[in-house]
Amino acid sequence: MNILLLGSGGREHALAWKISQSPRVSHLYVAPGNAGTAGIATNLSFKADDFAAVKQAVLDCHIDMVVVGPEDPLVKGIYDYFRDDAEVSSIPVIGPSKAGAVLEGSKDFAKGFMQRHGIPTAAYQTFDGDHLADGLAFLETLKPPYVLKADGLCAGKGVLILPTLEEAREELKEMLDGMFGNASSRVVIEEFLSGIECSVFVLTDGRHYKILPEAKDYKRIGEGDTGLNTGGMGSVSPVPFADAAWMQKVEDRIIRPTVEGLAAEGIDYKGFIFFGLINCGGDPKVIEYNCRMGDPETETVMLRIKSDFVDLLEGVACGDLDQRPLETDPRAAVCVMLVSGGYPGSYKKGFTISGIDSVEGSVVFHAGTVLNADGRVATAGGRVIAVSSYGHDKNEALAHSFSEAQKIQFEGRYFRRDIGADL
Ligand code: AMP
Ligand code: GLY
Repeated sequence: MNILLLGSGGREHALAWKISQSPRVSHLYVAPGNAGTAGIATNLSFKADDFAAVKQAVLDCHIDMVVVGPEDPLVKGIYDYFRDDAEVSSIPVIGPSKAGAVLEGSKDFAKGFMQRHGIPTAAYQTFDGDHLADGLAFLETLKPPYVLKADGLCAGKGVLILPTLEEAREELKEMLDGMFGNASSRVVIEEFLSGIECSVFVLTDGRHYKILPEAKDYKRIGEGDTGLNTGGMGSVSPVPFADAAWMQKVEDRIIRPTVEGLAAEGIDYKGFIFFGLINCGGDPKVIEYNCRMGDPETETVMLRIKSDFVDLLEGVACGDLDQRPLETDPRAAVCVMLVSGGYPGSYKKGFTISGIDSVEGSVVFHAGTVLNADGRVATAGGRVIAVSSYGHDKNEALAHSFSEAQKIQFEGRYFRRDIGADL
């Protein structure tokens, strides 16, 4: 079969790497892809949310399945666009309908959904600009630190955690005043939860589900979890505290009620569900839902899936996911992200990257790269390259990723040397 994968980051290179290993795949296309996907697939040069271009490519390239990497096309309704167009309605899109993607697209919807289905999460209330006074009064009832979340998508920047009531009051006003444009016209204020975070991923056909290997990601730019939030600086799988007993709680209290809740509400959901969890004294609670895989978690999760991933994706499309085996690799997998100097603030692009070919025993996933006309690979984003490795345990895998990461050079290159050190 021919598959079209949408997206251009490290997550998509990792998905492409895994998909391209399947004997069922005749040809893999990635749109728009990056210099890494160009080595294992055919890149098509249109954006993932240009639905008309996606449809044309599906027709021209005789695509049998579309796999959606990022949230944007899902939240904008690519699943519905295909479902409602007779020319392409028979082509499965792996990813939820627009109604399902709202789990990620609206924090207020996600909180309401969890409340309706008894799924453990932080206490909260949502306020719009007409109810600023109520929001300020609700803040008074909470203990510091204060968590404010823009309701809509903000490219990962919409959550503020404020140490004092004074700052929380100021930021609430700013957010409702348009700090994140329309995305913060409503703000979720929630109770602060403390604990270690863990990302759990599920593939569902709407009725059955498979739990993929879990991972922990490292969001802050600085070592010791300091400094600004990034898209993710590295990841580790498995997560030691996510043992069988803890994962059983996650399945019973969170995963099953979510999949059943979606079905009960008539929401068409055939794709990935990403549960951003926090371990509160042994009890998992949901911090957020995403309607896609995590990045950079995918760069470790894909290493730990032994089964044919395309078989699982077909199970999603056919509704018989329960019949498709999922075998995982018992080894640890980690990834270390190399980023541009200055990221997540302003940074320059276009620096030549050297040393990729000298990496041994690790898998190099491109996150923000381009292939120049002269055949050289150059930086094209904040997160540039993920170096993923296996090990008998995380320490062995990390030692390998750190030493191989040293071989890859570009001006301003930075990576965290403490990925996994807290576990
Ligand atoms: P989100 O975009 O909802 O994942 O939030 C971004 C990050 O903010 C999360 O990964 C957490 O580290 C943190 N966070 C969000 N909500 C809470 C909360 N209720 N308590 C503590 N930390 C939170
Ligand atoms: N690594 C977190 C995310 O993909 O949102």
